[in-house]
Amino acid sequence: MLMDLSHRSTEPELMDDPRIKLNILREVLYDISNVNKILNGNGITIKAVAKLLSEHPKSSYTFLDFGCGDGSMLREVALFCRKNQINAKLTGVDLNEKTIQIAKENSKNFPEIQYVKQDVLQLDVLKYSCDIVLCTLTLHHFTNEEIVTFTQKTAALAALGVIVNDLHRSKRAYYLYKGFSAIFIKTKIAKYDGLISIKRGFTKNDLTIFSKKLPMSEHKIKWKWAFRYVWVITPKRPSF
Ligand SMILES: C[S@@+](CC[C@H](N)C(=O)[O-])C[C@H]1O[C@@H](n2cnc3c(N)ncnc32)[C@H](O)[C@@H]1O
Repeated sequence: MLMDLSHRSTEPELMDDPRIKLNILREVLYDISNVNKILNGNGITIKAVAKLLSEHPKSSYTFLDFGCGDGSMLREVALFCRKNQINAKLTGVDLNEKTIQIAKENSKNFPEIQYVKQDVLQLDVLKYSCDIVLCTLTLHHFTNEEIVTFTQKTAALAALGVIVNDLHRSKRAYYLYKGFSAIFIKTKIAKYDGLISIKRGFTKNDLTIFSKKLPMSEHKIKWKWAFRYVWVITPKRPSF
């Protein structure tokens, strides 16, 4: 059967089923982190963080990671900040109670990170504020309409910017992941969800259309290996 990737898929991911067992979820999140490690998926965000920090030097920074999963991205940002002697307070937000439990277990040596259970689509922007919002491999879980509302809210609460890191929807990515996952991914759920995630992922045109709904912000959308887009949303500065 010919695969049609002309539009984002609406097929649900198995990991989003709230009935998923804790020990299974732990293995799935481990698989996702492992893929990120092998393909340096988080490195793209770290680079974007470093750039934003260098453009806005301050003594300390606050981060919110929306859809934080097992917290691996937060730990990488925390380590980057420690290494560069930057004070950072980091908060991971995730819908799933069990995921938050796993993230807390994995972050015992990171007192600068805290976790909150919250559906980020129901965010009360008055309750949250930060310098930088991170959103890695979470945007593709949302519908197009949800993405517009979510990015409008997050852009409003991030003083310095929002860094989205998500998947490129492409046939090449799909077939490469099929081969890659046969070797490197242990759980059936991560194998299956990885392919669904690519089908739910984005083209540059999709992200450009979303960015047009945020006219008060500046946008940089760049393709990165391996089949990722990094979309950096920053407040528009007045030009004199
Ligand atoms: C594919 S995982 C990515 C986890 C992590 N950011 C990473 O890069 O490894 C997507 C995460 O988004 C969370 N998520 C999905 N919908 C959400 C929502 N509406 N509010 C908060 N978290 C959500 C899921 O529970 C899951 O932990």
